[in-house]
Amino acid sequence: MSTSSKPAPGEARSPGVSVQELLDQERVAVPDVLRQTRYDYMGSEPIPAERYTSQHFHELEMDKMWTKVWQMVCREEEIPNVGDHIVYEIGDWSFIVMRSAADRIKAYYNACLHRGRQLRTQPGNVSKLRCPFHGFTWNLDGTLKEVPCRWDFPHIRDEEFSLPEARVDTWGGFVFINMDDDAPSLSEYLQDLPDQFERWDFENRYKRAHVGKVVDMNWKVGVEAFIESFHVLATHPQIMPSTGDTNTQYDVSAETPHYNRMITAMGTPSPHLSDNVDPDAIVRSMTRVEDDLKVPEGMSAREFVGHVRRQMLEQNTGRDFSEATVSELIDAIQYHVFPNFFPWGGYGDNLIYRFRPWGSPNKALMEVMYLAPCPKDAPRPKPAKMRLLGPDEDWVEAFDELGPVAAVFQQDMANMPIVQRGLKSMKTPRLTIANYQESRIRHLHRTLEKYVYGVKLEDASA
Ligand code: FES
Ligand SMILES: [Fe+2]
Repeated sequence: MSTSSKPAPGEARSPGVSVQELLDQERVAVPDVLRQTRYDYMGSEPIPAERYTSQHFHELEMDKMWTKVWQMVCREEEIPNVGDHIVYEIGDWSFIVMRSAADRIKAYYNACLHRGRQLRTQPGNVSKLRCPFHGFTWNLDGTLKEVPCRWDFPHIRDEEFSLPEARVDTWGGFVFINMDDDAPSLSEYLQDLPDQFERWDFENRYKRAHVGKVVDMNWKVGVEAFIESFHVLATHPQIMPSTGDTNTQYDVSAETPHYNRMITAMGTPSPHLSDNVDPDAIVRSMTRVEDDLKVPEGMSAREFVGHVRRQMLEQNTGRDFSEATVSELIDAIQYHVFPNFFPWGGYGDNLIYRFRPWGSPNKALMEVMYLAPCPKDAPRPKPAKMRLLGPDEDWVEAFDELGPVAAVFQQDMANMPIVQRGLKSMKTPRLTIANYQESRIRHLHRTLEKYVYGVKLEDASA
């Protein structure tokens, strides 16, 4: 911190207890991953609004970014058997992500090499990939199997007629693809992110819920609505008794251009509220009303909520969570992996978000998933299929899948499409971004600029 009375840009912090001070109160050992703090000031220049609205910038993103990044396409458990596949779409691109052998996942460009028909339009299981148009057929490993009326195609050389592939790699039970043969490996891309998640055992999770909705917004309007807690005050005031919104810890570093993190402490009141928030009100705002829990003597509300969550988790999974910190049980430890994937850290039922452009700069598919720990000594539960909400369906209609958080998403919905409209009617089309609380937005844009405008990622801190 600067020693002058006025902090340098990016050094100002909210009054109130910090995440690190709350970690000092833990009764079990605090892992290094929570003790790490990283912050590089990312500048304060405005962001042009056309990045969210223009067809030109949308096409730049498609050509120079989406075709070069690692994208999370599914969970491994969604394609457990040989021949199982999903169809993943990004812009005009489509891929068949297929378990081609027991220990191998491949991603085929979803277009027949004959006259281009998509080979698959739905997920499922197949023993071969046969094009419905004229019947050209490929084996699951992508090699050519059959050409109908072979006599008419003497010019096809079988060994040159395998299905083209995108690169595939996995981490934490997630499958990723990358269209760029020259891009760094997934492990170079993610850097130390897998180490940060090591404790939370994402392999032994299953997708308990999956809900999607096409929203009238640019995909970044969606991403950016979820990477700061600044908006809790105006958008989600009901969670303020239990949300340390403005003293969220934001970890952004020029040295990790493909991910950043925030930790919003829960079970502790917003610094916007007075110091004497009733502990029972804190608990009520974090649990279901019918639970009607009372904080026992000698325990803070935060500790108590952690205790309740730990018990529930142990009951549901048959596993031992005695070494889990309260932070890992209740806080919002949210990572953003560039460009569009949000795995939440910690234990329990972890949220996952994903945002994709959906055919235009003005539409995006927003997806919300829950990953739950697999029960001990029991078969892995089947992963949920995505429920796509219709244009007239609210997030609250997905209460069965998402629980109380559905109402929070509905509040965000009251902003996102309206932001998209407002962005088109700014007299001076520029966004003014907070130095600290919105630093992840700037981090996203800096990495985006590196791809779209071709600045080298190593120069990120310049
Ligand atoms: S387009 Fe696929 S077989 Fe003709
Ligand atoms: Fe929100």
